[in-house]
Amino acid sequence: MKNLITAVAIAWLALGSQAKLADPPSLNTAAPIANNFVVQYHPDVSAADRQKHEQLVHAAAARHTSYRGIMKKFDIGGFQGYHVELDGKAVAELQKSNLIKQIQPDAQISIASPIKPPPPLPMHTRDDDPDSGLPANIRRVPISTWGQARLSHRVPSTTGFIYDVGGSTAYIIDTGIRTTHAEFSNGSVSRAIWGTNFISGSADTDENGHGTHCAGTVGGRTKGIAPLTELIAVKVFDANGNGPWSGVLAALDWVVKHAAANGRVGRAVVNMSLGGSRWSVIEDAVTAAVDAGVAVVVAAGNAGQPVNTTSPAACPDAITVGAVDENDARPGWSNWGVGLDFFAPGADVESAWIQSDSAYASESGTSMAAPHVTGLVAYLMQQFGPHTPAQMRDRLNALATRGTVTGAGDGSVNAIVFNGNEMYA
Ligand SMILES: *[C@@H]1O[C@H](CO)[C@@H](O)[C@H](O)[C@H]1NC(C)=O
Ligand SMILES: *[C@@H]1O[C@H](CO)[C@@H](O)[C@H](O)[C@H]1NC(C)=O
Ligand SMILES: *[C@@H]1O[C@H](CO)[C@@H](O)[C@H](O)[C@H]1NC(C)=O
Repeated sequence: MKNLITAVAIAWLALGSQAKLADPPSLNTAAPIANNFVVQYHPDVSAADRQKHEQLVHAAAARHTSYRGIMKKFDIGGFQGYHVELDGKAVAELQKSNLIKQIQPDAQISIASPIKPPPPLPMHTRDDDPDSGLPANIRRVPISTWGQARLSHRVPSTTGFIYDVGGSTAYIIDTGIRTTHAEFSNGSVSRAIWGTNFISGSADTDENGHGTHCAGTVGGRTKGIAPLTELIAVKVFDANGNGPWSGVLAALDWVVKHAAANGRVGRAVVNMSLGGSRWSVIEDAVTAAVDAGVAVVVAAGNAGQPVNTTSPAACPDAITVGAVDENDARPGWSNWGVGLDFFAPGADVESAWIQSDSAYASESGTSMAAPHVTGLVAYLMQQFGPHTPAQMRDRLNALATRGTVTGAGDGSVNAIVFNGNEMYA
């Protein structure tokens, strides 16, 4: 039986505050896209009512041939809406519809602090240990990053092995994946495959590096937490780490539908690292994905602020991850506080990069911490079978190492994720 893990990899983004259309949000690194909007229906609007409404929108768009009308519909369990291109007058009309919960400008968003490719690190050499003395479905991979070591031991600064059983799939919603990288090789084929691309006109590959780095942390063969997992690239950010909000929602919609169509509900995890001010559209979409059976892992953010100031980290349904360094200390930039669910390794994380199939880079951020938890969820779903998001949260809580984080921050949980592998170590 093959489990499927859904990892939505999204960079740490800066969002503007929620605002009415008349009062455009002051977006930090996000720029509103002229005449493009994200429309969210109230919950429980019937399919028939939505269809009627959308016909009217199509008709309105047809009167203004320069606008494209409804571009993409979103239907994530309890989250329904669409991305539309219209003139301001037609949007003002839409505002009056009692079917609609809110209309927000679509915006260009970027991964924060653009990642500059650091010099490649030397390729790690695998000195494969035979899997002797282990249960048949367990694989043993020599530890190659401090994050792998931290997740598979109760105390910091250990060496040894990380274990995996294979048979899961992780969706990486990010800048794409360099699928040919050696970290993803599985004999003569790759465990990383191309899923879909929401950046129109861009190449079906990672032109930035961020997605490949995250994919390597989730499931790289030497750098990953689940080194046998299958990885599927879902591209929402371009070479510069930019993409529209509507693309992020479309990607979440695609992944949840793909998981459902493949019978993977209850076996899926989304790793989402969006941040900035509270934005109810994305929090509602995350809640809908969780209600649909997909666990959502979210980066706490890198602003050194309370988690409850940012979306979707503050969404209670998300598994929100802060960062620790090699000494179990929280770096000052990691968000903290009530709403944080776990800490994971996030400083100087070594993983795959894009200059070549043997390139590596070291990066820091809660963007690096969240993929550790995504990989761990993938591993635990492989090891123990399907979980609801709530069951997975309980399992992570039962396993977590408690009380070792220094400077965790007022209101933060003091817990580092752990994979339970001391039973083999
Ligand atoms: C996971 O979340 C991080 C942020 O914590 C994000 O940067 C990354 O792109 C996401 N992707 C994966 C595959 O983990
Ligand atoms: C890796 O290769 C093995 C042997 O060919 C195959 O059974 C397995 O499904 C592959 N795994 C992935 C994730 O492609
Ligand atoms: C936000 O989080 C901070 C830090 O944990 C806490 O002190 C504060 O009470 C929280 N505010 C709200 C409104 O929950």
